[in-house]
Amino acid sequence: MSIVYLNGEFLPIEQAKVSVLDRGFLFGDGVYEVIPVYGGHCLRLGEHLKRLQDSLDGIQLKNPLTIPQWEQALNELIEKNEGEDKSVYLQLSRGAAPVRDHLFPAQPRPTIFIMSNPLKPVSKETLRTGIKAVTLDDIRWQACNIKATALLANTLLKQQAASQGATEAILVRDGLATEGSASNLFIVIDGVIITPPIGPRLLPGITRDLILELAEANKLPHEVRDISEAELKSANEIWMTSSTKEIMPVIELDGKVLANAQPGPMWERMIDLYQAYKVKLRQGAE
Ligand SMILES: Cc1ncc(COP(=O)(O)O)c(C=O)c1O
Repeated sequence: MSIVYLNGEFLPIEQAKVSVLDRGFLFGDGVYEVIPVYGGHCLRLGEHLKRLQDSLDGIQLKNPLTIPQWEQALNELIEKNEGEDKSVYLQLSRGAAPVRDHLFPAQPRPTIFIMSNPLKPVSKETLRTGIKAVTLDDIRWQACNIKATALLANTLLKQQAASQGATEAILVRDGLATEGSASNLFIVIDGVIITPPIGPRLLPGITRDLILELAEANKLPHEVRDISEAELKSANEIWMTSSTKEIMPVIELDGKVLANAQPGPMWERMIDLYQAYKVKLRQGAE
């Protein structure tokens, strides 16, 4: 049975209840994080908690817990749930107010929720064949750097991609390819790994940062700069990255198979480096 954390208590998921007046429910007024856990070790916990703080600052909600308190709650939850590898989801909403009102309550009492789910690796078959992606207009708001629970546009975009037979949507704004509906974007052109700069158009992904670090440490040519839609369409390799899906190679874009017709050599190199990083993390060495 899955044990969750709700406002300071650990309890079975079936018993975890939140008010219908919770602003997370009424307005999507909240922020979240997804943290992968390998062999009991959180991947880049400090970075996740830092991004959580940035998201909270972005929605003007005071962090109700200190970093040691977050660490304790997360570690206890990880221990209470079974399984070797987990995906820990944590969410904070602005809590329930006495009446539904767009304005923030004067003294918000945030709802803090954490749950753990089994983390299943992307299948070998998917990694062998790669995924299909489609480009779609980015219909989201202008603060995509905030990891907000209000994900309606992201869900619509992902659903639209699925209805076109694709796994992920690559979002385009003002002629620039920015990120996926639930992932960051990398391309490879002439042996150079390229990803767009952080800013309000995209989420500063923890996996993205790790890939840039691995590229730097291993002297793989890389650039952080805008990617035009035309460049995306002529890229040698395209990758979509996220904490739970790691590095997914795209093999088909908008119905056209990429030149390589299989996951590219730079992807092979990077996924090996990423897996090696995880091995060290499992040993507690990262
Ligand atoms: C819109 C969006 N961009 C990027 C990412 C990747 O972020 P991370 O690597 O921290 O999982 C996600 C993850 O869910 C996302 O939802």
